[in-house]
Amino acid sequence: MSRDPANTILTVDRVMRGRFANRFFLDRSVELETVRQIIEVARHAGTGANVQPWHVHLVAGQVKASLIEALGHAHETEAHAHTPEYKYLPDDLPEPYASRRREFGAVFYGSLGIAPDDNAARARNTARNYRFFDAPVGLIFTIDRRLEKGSWLDLGMFIQNIMLAAGARGLDTCAQEFFSRYHAVIRRELSLSAEAMVVCGMSMGFGDPQWADRRPHMPKADVDDIASFHGF
Ligand SMILES: Cc1cc2nc3c(=O)[nH]c(=O)nc-3n(C[C@H](O)[C@H](O)[C@H](O)COP(=O)(O)O)c2cc1C
Repeated sequence: MSRDPANTILTVDRVMRGRFANRFFLDRSVELETVRQIIEVARHAGTGANVQPWHVHLVAGQVKASLIEALGHAHETEAHAHTPEYKYLPDDLPEPYASRRREFGAVFYGSLGIAPDDNAARARNTARNYRFFDAPVGLIFTIDRRLEKGSWLDLGMFIQNIMLAAGARGLDTCAQEFFSRYHAVIRRELSLSAEAMVVCGMSMGFGDPQWADRRPHMPKADVDDIASFHGF
């Protein structure tokens, strides 16, 4: 590890605390070399038995534009015909998660100035998902459907590593389960194999500093609400 541990702690903590789901990006491209570096370092995430069960498709330029066009068509004209291949949350969300989700909605839509009952504005905002929130780089994460839950745990670590590696390089991100419902479109556009299941996507780019100033600060549960310390 580092010869300057105090500095390393500060830096790592700053990157972790500084990450947030940014949905507003500058019209500024990201070099392929930077994106490659992010994946190069993120691939060091630990995995059970080192099976490294992840795959990420990175799209930019014309390929991203074509994907967005296909997704836009699906979302705007036949959204009801698309459903995810897995359930992200149960229909009947138990406590304390239901309260946290409600709080998320209030903080999130409040930050956008969208009233709780303004369904049209909410829908317009949701539709920004398929455009990767206008970020220059889009990511689609897939996992081999023959694997089990444990591999999904591994995939999450890879995804988090990407967000942190991006953050360290001044790039913002937003993970997006939104894409899971449009797996058929993504499969066609990116020629995914039959085994590949679309888990989620991500937007990546230089965040709009104006948005960063008024971004929603999502409340995080206290340490004692999420951790039980035994035997200290
Ligand atoms: C796996 C995952 C999927 C997500 N999917 C979406 C999504 O589809 N659309 C979206 O706008 N935000 C999405 N988010 C962002 C969350 O809403 C956000 O992380 C959460 O509200 C906490 O806020 P923070 O990331 O700013 O701390 C997702 C986040 C994660 C980790």
